[in-house]
Amino acid sequence: MIKLQDQREKHWEAFVGRCQACRACELSESRQNVVVWRGGIRAPLVILGEGPGADEDRLGLPFVGRSGKLLDQLLTSFGFDAGDYHIANIVKCRPPGNRVPTEEEARACRPLLKEQLRLVRPTVYLLMGATAHRYFMGSSTGITQARGIWTESNNCHILPTFHPAYVLRDPSKRTFLWQDIAAVRQKLEELDLIEKLKA
Ligand code: URA
Repeated sequence: MIKLQDQREKHWEAFVGRCQACRACELSESRQNVVVWRGGIRAPLVILGEGPGADEDRLGLPFVGRSGKLLDQLLTSFGFDAGDYHIANIVKCRPPGNRVPTEEEARACRPLLKEQLRLVRPTVYLLMGATAHRYFMGSSTGITQARGIWTESNNCHILPTFHPAYVLRDPSKRTFLWQDIAAVRQKLEELDLIEKLKA
């Protein structure tokens, strides 16, 4: 009998293959790599950014540049392990010059993102930055107003926050990102989806 874990890995590999073959929008023409995820392939928390930058495109992993270093520092200092989270983006291919992905590009990428989320089955979402918030929630509320406010949808808990790149540009916003990551940790603990940190 095929074990559940093996089956999950097979489905995941097939999904990654579909991502790598994707030509649904013109971002596929200029990419070096399709950037799908890092972290667990089944995780209680999904962290969603905008789209790959130059470092991510080169290495094929999300959030590995300056923003990613800050994110990793935060996740480590709040006691997260790589298996607790799954990091992905609204679009899987780098928009040239790091521009914001267009609505058409986000729409073209959505079926793959939906499939990804169906496989990962998160309960908590952290949306990082205005673009992730806008495209994921379909909301026109600015990120400054939206951040730190939980929304519940289909038994999932969704929290928008500032993008780490924004916090690097404006360090006065650091405490907001810190607060939001702490709130995510607390939510996962309350829901018994992650072990409580020992005092
Ligand atoms: N910024 C993002 O939004 N995503 C990445 O993967 C890297 C930087």
